[in-house]
Amino acid sequence: MNLKNKFYMKKDMKKVFLRSFGCQMNSRDAEIIAGLLKAQGYRLAAKPEGVDIILFVTCSVRQHAEDKVWSQIGRYKDTGPRKKIIGLIGCMAQHYKEKAFSRAANVDLVVGPNDIDKIPSILKKLSGKKLFETKIWETDGLARPAHMYHTGFYADKAHASVVISEGCSNFCSYCVVPYVRGVLRHRQHKDILEEITEAVAGGLTDITLLGQNVNAYRQGNVDFAGLLELVNNIEGLKSFDFVTSHPKDTSGQLFKAMAGLDKLKKYLHLPVQSGADRILALMNRGYTRRFYLELADKYRKIVPGAVLTTDIIVGFPTETQEDFRQTYELVKEAQFDAAFIFKYSPRPGTAAAKIDDDVSRQEKERRHKLILDLQKDISKRKKCVKK
Ligand code: SAH
Ligand code: SF4
Ligand code: F3S
Repeated sequence: MNLKNKFYMKKDMKKVFLRSFGCQMNSRDAEIIAGLLKAQGYRLAAKPEGVDIILFVTCSVRQHAEDKVWSQIGRYKDTGPRKKIIGLIGCMAQHYKEKAFSRAANVDLVVGPNDIDKIPSILKKLSGKKLFETKIWETDGLARPAHMYHTGFYADKAHASVVISEGCSNFCSYCVVPYVRGVLRHRQHKDILEEITEAVAGGLTDITLLGQNVNAYRQGNVDFAGLLELVNNIEGLKSFDFVTSHPKDTSGQLFKAMAGLDKLKKYLHLPVQSGADRILALMNRGYTRRFYLELADKYRKIVPGAVLTTDIIVGFPTETQEDFRQTYELVKEAQFDAAFIFKYSPRPGTAAAKIDDDVSRQEKERRHKLILDLQKDISKRKKCVKK
């Protein structure tokens, strides 16, 4: 950025409120945006009252996630000079593109996950207009510039999330992520290590490595286990973990690496999604119930103190009582430390959206509650045993 711009922004200081929804990737993206804006002289506010700009960093993973955002945006209907600049950022921005403006007329900017580095320049353009009548959207980005991970801004004082890979190429049939985040891209390992070293120097000695499918990491001759080892060697780092793992890319070799790294927390989030092979195949998950259970078993045998958590979707199209029973039994057998249970939500454009969403809402709710209650019992019992 040149000096003239810097001078302009200082004179025209703006107060920004950022609100993020969805997964940890979004929380990290919100931090990156905050860091980029702070560097341009913007002030971050803890609440939306009295600010000039509100940016919603949004999630499209389920209908409910989107509904929450539309209703939040609907609260800011002011017009004229009092009007705040409203931004729809992240996965929903990519999902709706310029159609977002007809859905919510008070939205001024729509910026997809691969274009967030452009937010400062877009805001500059918008705040030059008196009535903010201009609309700007950026949703064509295919890659992120490496520099944006180095703003040095983290929301927490002790813990930092560090992205190792962007996007996802797994195309699980129900999932919108590959469409809104783009195909899988791995960050350069040197750049990742540099970011962690910078964070550690700033006192952030607990790190989470982030990606939709971290186990698939490969850059040059460094695979995921290799990256874990490099991170473990960083001086001053006290502890680290990673999310999310995909069962099809997880192996005994990774568990052996996990067991041998002293700073790595023995925590694995390994979403199973379903316990029925027929549904797993329809979901395009690439593994069977048996493969998953054996993997969980191996993990616990190889890694001392192993903690295992999961995600489950109930009510996937065509899921029968028998399919559901198999998921229920898997939860009993796997004895997760925690599980996140979701009701299937059709996402336009995905492969599963072409199959009739034939499990009724009440039935999804019933199945959801059954697994939730079962898991609550398991989690409680496991906590008692540990104490
Ligand atoms: N990359 C991770 C998580 C992606 S989204 C993974 O592979 O597991 C987080 C969770 O949301 C998923 O694990 C899945 O359980 C759930 N989810 C994704 N799409 C969904 C949909 N259409 N309906 C309901 N739950 C969904
Ligand atoms: Fe979605 Fe599957 Fe990729 Fe996870 S691995 S983000 S569930 S497509
Ligand atoms: Fe949601 Fe996007 Fe994360 S759709 S789950 S915020 S990658």
